[in-house]
Amino acid sequence: MTDSIKLADVTRVYDAGLGRVEALRGVTLNLEAGQATAIVGPSGSGKSTLLHLCGALDLPTRGSVQVLGCELSRADDRTLTRFRREHLGFIFQFFHLLPTLSALENVMLPARLARLPKAAGETRARALLEQVGLGARMRHRPAELSGGERQRVAIARALVMDPKVILADEPTGNLDHATGSQVLELLFALAHEQTRTVFIVTHDQEVARACDRIVTLRDGLVVS
Ligand SMILES: Nc1ncnc2c1ncn2[C@@H]1O[C@H](COP(=O)(O)OP(=O)(O)OP(=O)(O)O)[C@@H](O)[C@H]1O
Ligand SMILES: [Mg+2]
Repeated sequence: MTDSIKLADVTRVYDAGLGRVEALRGVTLNLEAGQATAIVGPSGSGKSTLLHLCGALDLPTRGSVQVLGCELSRADDRTLTRFRREHLGFIFQFFHLLPTLSALENVMLPARLARLPKAAGETRARALLEQVGLGARMRHRPAELSGGERQRVAIARALVMDPKVILADEPTGNLDHATGSQVLELLFALAHEQTRTVFIVTHDQEVARACDRIVTLRDGLVVS
C-alpha cells in the first residue's frame, strides 16, 4: 500500500514580529490509506500546525509535504485551492458551518465551490445526510441542531467531494461522550471500509487509543 501522506524533515517557523516560534522542528512521518491516526501531545506542541500543513492550509518553512503524490510545498495557490477542494475533507472542533444555510445547503457547499452540477451535489448531500442519521433534519439551520448533529453535518460536508484524505482537529472536543463515540465510529468506518486516510488531532486519550496508530508530538518533534 502506498503512503497517502508523506512528511520529510518538515519545519515550520512562525516569525510574526512576536518572536520566532519553531512550531515543528523536523518531522518525518508517513501515513497509510485505510488507517485512522491520532496526533496527541501537549498544548502548543504543533498538532494543529501539522494538520494544517497536511491540508495545504499552511506551507512548511523547510521540508517536503506530499499528499496523494502531490508535493504541496512547491505548489502555487491555485493548485493548492483545487487540491483541497477535490481531495481533502476537513472537520473542525467548532464545526464552521454557515449559520444562514440549512444543513443540506451546508453539505452542498463544497460541491458548489467545485462547480459540480447542482443536482449531482444535492443528490450526494442528501445521501450523506441520510447516512449520518440526519435525513429528518436537512432543512434545519445550524442553530436549530444539537452539537452532535452539527458535527455530523460537518462530517457530511467534509465527504461530499469524496475525499481520500480526511483531516480532523478535535472533532469530538465539543461533544458529549456518547455523541463523540458515534462521530468516531463514523470516521473509523470511513477509514477501514473505504480505505481513506483519517488524521485526527485529539486531547482525549480514549479517542487516541481507539485509532489504529498514535503519533505523539512534543515541542515540535515526533517523540513516538
Ligand atoms: N499563526 C501563528 N503565529 C505565530 N505562532 C503560532 C501561530 N500558530 C501557532 N503558533 C505557535 O506554534 C506553536 C504550535 O501551535 P499549534 O497550534 O500547532 O499547537 P497545538 O499542539 O495544536 O496546541 P493546542 O493543543 O493548544 O491546540 C505554539 O507555540 C503556538 O503558539
Ligand atoms: Mg491545536
